[in-house]
Amino acid sequence: MSELKLENVGYRFANGDRDVLQGVTCSFEPGNLYAVVGPSGSGKTTLLSLMAGLDKPGTGKLFLAGEDLDTLDLDRYRRERVAMIFQAFQLFPLLTALENVCYPMELNGVPLEQAKERARELLAAVDINEDKQKRYPSHLSGGEQQRVAIARALSSGARILLADEPTGNLDTVNGDRVIEIFRHLAHNENYCIVVVTHDLAIADVCDRVYRITDGVLTTLSA
Ligand SMILES: Nc1ncnc2c1ncn2[C@@H]1O[C@H](COP(=O)(O)OP(=O)(O)OP(=O)(O)O)[C@@H](O)[C@H]1O
Ligand SMILES: [Mg+2]
Repeated sequence: MSELKLENVGYRFANGDRDVLQGVTCSFEPGNLYAVVGPSGSGKTTLLSLMAGLDKPGTGKLFLAGEDLDTLDLDRYRRERVAMIFQAFQLFPLLTALENVCYPMELNGVPLEQAKERARELLAAVDINEDKQKRYPSHLSGGEQQRVAIARALSSGARILLADEPTGNLDTVNGDRVIEIFRHLAHNENYCIVVVTHDLAIADVCDRVYRITDGVLTTLSA
């Protein structure tokens, strides 16, 4: 059964004059890394927001492991099942890098010392050293903030990861490292990971590629 399934999903912003998504039907399986590509403004971030349960579709339905998302506790879904890495990071500005990564674990009841230890491991895995772990986001570079956001998404333990341009601010070495982490989690730990990207080299190493053009989704590769 698909981890996440979209059936004929359409969306229009309240102040919009056109459908930003139209008739989107697709499914995402555990154990796979997916890419979503498409021009700027085509609807990629909107699609991820619906999949993250941050907004509801105007038409159509989403299913989590066969269950209509409408019937689920969405707060719980967002806390436990899905983690989103935002295009603009959205780190908490008054928390240090380490505290940002601890936060989802604290919400899920992990004891603080245990959360800190795991946060340090996750941050080290994306090359954020102990000095940087103590800094506030405003004292980190864009690429460093992006890597903290990735570590934070991984800390929640959610098995569905939605990443909006996660390598957009990273050099090749760090970008490759992040994609390697995603591939490992998908293929060895059965995560379901969806990466929005403009980088065709990343799309190339994904298991399946969807393209969105003007809100319409097509499959590029299976
Ligand atoms: N809050 C909003 N209100 C009205 N229209 C919006 C809003 N947010 C986005 N849009 C419009 O919806 C369309 C899709 O936006 P979206 O952010 O999903 O694009 P995207 O594919 O992620 O683009 P990019 O690659 O630039 O991030 C765009 O035309 C955008 O202008
Ligand atoms: Mg976007």
